[in-house]
Amino acid sequence: MSEKFRYRLVRKVLSKDILDFLYEYILMKRKSYRTMLQEKIIPPYLEHLFGQTEDDMVPGTDFTIYGDVASEVILKKLRRFIQEEVSKLEAYDGGRLVESYSFLRIYRLGNILEKHTDRTSCQISVTLPIGGGKWPIFVDDQEFILDPGDILIYNGNLPHWRNEFKEKECVQLFLHYNTAKELKEKNLKAYDSRLHIGLPAHKNLIVK
Ligand SMILES: [Fe+2]
Repeated sequence: MSEKFRYRLVRKVLSKDILDFLYEYILMKRKSYRTMLQEKIIPPYLEHLFGQTEDDMVPGTDFTIYGDVASEVILKKLRRFIQEEVSKLEAYDGGRLVESYSFLRIYRLGNILEKHTDRTSCQISVTLPIGGGKWPIFVDDQEFILDPGDILIYNGNLPHWRNEFKEKECVQLFLHYNTAKELKEKNLKAYDSRLHIGLPAHKNLIVK
């Protein structure tokens, strides 16, 4: 993919109904995760299938879940839309997009996302606020303030970060794609090395 592709902001992509559903959905996922741990309903070696509270990228993250079926459906349904949006940019030459993985996360007061670039499974990254307080993102020194339902598509090779979150809580959805071109050129596996989307992280993968 051309390094010239930087970012594209598109407003009002997800409807209020979908946002409301996802917001309630992740709150219930968090509640059931906590209860299952407390009541020892799930053995420790299976905990990661239901969620995580550690996140290498944002210490103190409240709750995060990789590859949840609900978020992977959004990953699938938005693939073509995102492909069309990035294809409008002159600097984009990646061709077809292939799903990599999705994340749903709940952040809380005081969280910080340090400046970083994404791993190779995140060439085309998308951040999409679902609800709660606003948490601006900076990509390549440009600040973006998104409302729930807006999407920011950005080149994961560009440095990006968020300053300290000043509000109580927020829910964010992350979608990651590869270009078919780079999968082939760099001999990478599709779906973040999983058999297909909708599955937990590949066992050899360090989730970030
Ligand atoms: Fe990132």
